[in-house]
Amino acid sequence: MNRREFLRRGAALCSAASLASFFPAWAQDQTWEVPELTITSITIPLPIEREFTALHISDSHLAYADDRDSEEKRARADKRIEVFKNHPLEMLQAALRHAEEKGQIVLHTGDMIDFVTAKNLDLTREALADRDCLLSAGNHDFYPMQGDGAVQDEEYKQRAMVDAQPAWPNDMRFCARVINGVNFVAFDDAFYYVADDLIDRFRAEAAKGLPIVAMCHCPLYTPELYKHCVESRGDHVALIVGASDEEMAHYPESYFKRYRWGHDEQIATRAFVDYLRGEPLLKAVLCGHLHFSWQGQFSDTAPQYIAGANFKGQVNEITFVPAA
Ligand SMILES: [Fe+2]
Ligand SMILES: [Fe+2]
Repeated sequence: MNRREFLRRGAALCSAASLASFFPAWAQDQTWEVPELTITSITIPLPIEREFTALHISDSHLAYADDRDSEEKRARADKRIEVFKNHPLEMLQAALRHAEEKGQIVLHTGDMIDFVTAKNLDLTREALADRDCLLSAGNHDFYPMQGDGAVQDEEYKQRAMVDAQPAWPNDMRFCARVINGVNFVAFDDAFYYVADDLIDRFRAEAAKGLPIVAMCHCPLYTPELYKHCVESRGDHVALIVGASDEEMAHYPESYFKRYRWGHDEQIATRAFVDYLRGEPLLKAVLCGHLHFSWQGQFSDTAPQYIAGANFKGQVNEITFVPAA
């Protein structure tokens, strides 16, 4: 009997009262069960010779710590793992197993971990070892401590990268890789801006003339996505990149203190999003961050796909097919 079956059977057989001193709180939920993957099938036509598939996942939010981590980090991980239904690692493993069985490259668009701990980085290394994958970084991948309220800028990011980067299979801020004639370009927009050097690097990739699938963490602005967030869903802010000052005018002041919203970075970032919208080589945008699955047209040439949360088992299975 594996650990999961042990806990599930224990929860089913024992009364809540008798469980109290033996099982952790989350295992006392008799309905607890690691869910199956919810797979959304997507087809993206590209100017390619042959079909290939990928598994697009996002927001795994590994939230573990061990004796190498501080008491504060261990306590935070204990709390945070409940947010992720107690099984982010099992869901990541399930997704990776699925990709392996299907021979798919794994495209992970950020928040692999919830915050930097020795344990989370070890798990990341182990999960991705010898795996065909490409990652873009999410805001949580750069958090030394979740919920620290720090200003999120390049300096803050660099501090986390000292520990986090060695655990990653590619550059956390920018990586481009040609797969079957398609340039997959993963860039960091984790803190709601794209740094100048990354904009330059993206444009240099476009100059190569290959079709591009962009990967980032935070979704890129479209009027439809903004409306979906603040009107249909009733979110008080749209956690996306490139909304206008007018659209952000009602956002709480605290967001402008924590993020680089309202700062110089936004001018270049909005110009970059506008450039992407007019870039004919851009064929798709893959992202995450919002923890719900959504898709819409980003530009005339590129749909945008938001993968739901991997910790909930939501994955996008993408088939890239030769365009007619
Ligand atoms: Fe996330
Ligand atoms: Fe995120």
